[in-house]
Amino acid sequence: AAKTLIRTNLLKWYDENKRSLPWRNQISTEDVNQKAYAVWVSEIMLQQTQVATVIDYYNRWMTKWPTLQELAKAKLEEVNEMWSGLGYYSRGKRLHEGAKKVVNELEGQVPKSAADLEKKLPGVGRYTAGAIASIALGEKTGVVDGNVIRVFSRLRMIGADVSSPATMDKFWELANELADCERTGDLNQGLMELGAMVCTPKSPKCSLCPLQETCRAFAKVNLEKKQAAGRL
Ligand code: ADE
Repeated sequence: AAKTLIRTNLLKWYDENKRSLPWRNQISTEDVNQKAYAVWVSEIMLQQTQVATVIDYYNRWMTKWPTLQELAKAKLEEVNEMWSGLGYYSRGKRLHEGAKKVVNELEGQVPKSAADLEKKLPGVGRYTAGAIASIALGEKTGVVDGNVIRVFSRLRMIGADVSSPATMDKFWELANELADCERTGDLNQGLMELGAMVCTPKSPKCSLCPLQETCRAFAKVNLEKKQAAGRL
């Protein structure tokens, strides 16, 4: 029941507050390979770079190489030049290698499940595979990135070391449970968006949060405030 409430409130908030980002406008196409490509590029760029910086790079990239077929024909020097300023050049190199693999070895078909994406595409780990599969392909699979970890830590007051394998397993389990719904891609993007916009590392904007009533950290802080006020 709590999960249903979390999903409903989060999706409503996402519908009303999501940022208009270029990769979100791209995914209205019916072509699943194109959708997967659009999400793939955005998620790789977003791995170590902020959204505000990524937007221009993303637009330039998609203008130069609008499809996987175009990217597969590019030279590595062009890819590196395009990546210049984003850092971690291996990300661009692997994206290029992945495009060549899809075009030359997979008949132009992007793998169609998170498991296959992770297995077959260079540079695509568990997070990126989940993002592509859920956002572009509609697979009911969760995603866990830094934003999602923070949201879940507060929601469930998970104080344990967030980098320990056992804790990470818990986050993935929760992500997969929540993602098991009709709008998985939006739910996953909503979690990330909430972490980026509201459930921020410093001074989270709890008064604007759609998950306030189900958040254990909020309940605790609120209780402590009331107790402190009562003692005055
Ligand atoms: N950060 C990484 N991927 C994102 C996405 N799809 N939406 C919002 N923030 C993100």
